[in-house]
Amino acid sequence: MRLQDRVAIVTGGGQGIGEGICLELAREGAKVAVVDVVLENAEKVARAIVDAGGEAIGLKADVSNKAEAEKMVADTVARFGRLDILVNNAGINRDALFEKMTEEEWDAVINVNLKGPFLCAQAALPEMRKNKYGRVINFSSKGGAAGNVGQVNYSASKMGVIGMTRSLAKEFGRYAAKDGADFTCNAIMPGFFETPMSAKIPDKIKEGFITQIPLGRTAQPTEMGKVIAFLASPDASYITGTAVGVDGGFFMGVQC
Ligand SMILES: NC(=O)c1ccc[n+]([C@@H]2O[C@H](COP(=O)([O-])OP(=O)(O)OC[C@H]3O[C@@H](n4cnc5c(N)ncnc54)[C@H](O)[C@@H]3O)[C@@H](O)[C@H]2O)c1
Repeated sequence: MRLQDRVAIVTGGGQGIGEGICLELAREGAKVAVVDVVLENAEKVARAIVDAGGEAIGLKADVSNKAEAEKMVADTVARFGRLDILVNNAGINRDALFEKMTEEEWDAVINVNLKGPFLCAQAALPEMRKNKYGRVINFSSKGGAAGNVGQVNYSASKMGVIGMTRSLAKEFGRYAAKDGADFTCNAIMPGFFETPMSAKIPDKIKEGFITQIPLGRTAQPTEMGKVIAFLASPDASYITGTAVGVDGGFFMGVQC
């Protein structure tokens, strides 16, 4: 129970990797705000946590909307009294070849994947500073960093997340120096997880990917949850500004 009495927000928690993270953080004792644009899914995951003896609420918020990001934080604090951990997991793709990609497809992906983590972290920070404890964990992508045909928008957003993470880690370091706070910011680079997002990949391409993964398989969302639980805990107090690859070795050697 490394996260006993900690309060966490997980964006995009209604399905896929986010759901796996919510379940694992709750298993480690955290009180979890499961946030999603699809309220029904957020409430379903929150109910599963409560049924298993944990504490959780489901909230509806679009992370790319400043007012909704602020309300998400306010509602979490109103319910659980504090905020320690923000997992910026919500992400989308709108794939198209560069020549055909529309401005709307570009904006949608940048707004959710890059502006969303910015808005949510900005809304969360004052609450974390009150506790002198903060964990901001941002979702990047190793595939995005490597570059992909049809993913100019997605790759740009996911590399942007790395830059934002590094700058935030440096700013957070100042709180540690100034008032002894335990504040870190890290990025996560998933490889191939079995989720509704990756289910859109055709079987033939998926089989080709698996031959390139040294561990010879895809991953399950709860495997990500265990990594996030560690990074969110005091055990990870000296890890900051890094991009953690959770990919079975799929993208080893990819620079970012
Ligand atoms: N699945 C993979 O293999 C993989 C690989 C690399 C990176 N990632 C990244 O991991 C994260 C989770 O991916 P996933 O596969 O679980 O995706 P998913 O599509 O299965 O789930 C994403 C969740 O985010 C929610 N969401 C979307 N837009 C939102 C918004 N504006 N505000 C709030 N919630 C919103 C969706 O409703 C959904 O519940 C994403 O950031 C994704 O880019 C996933």
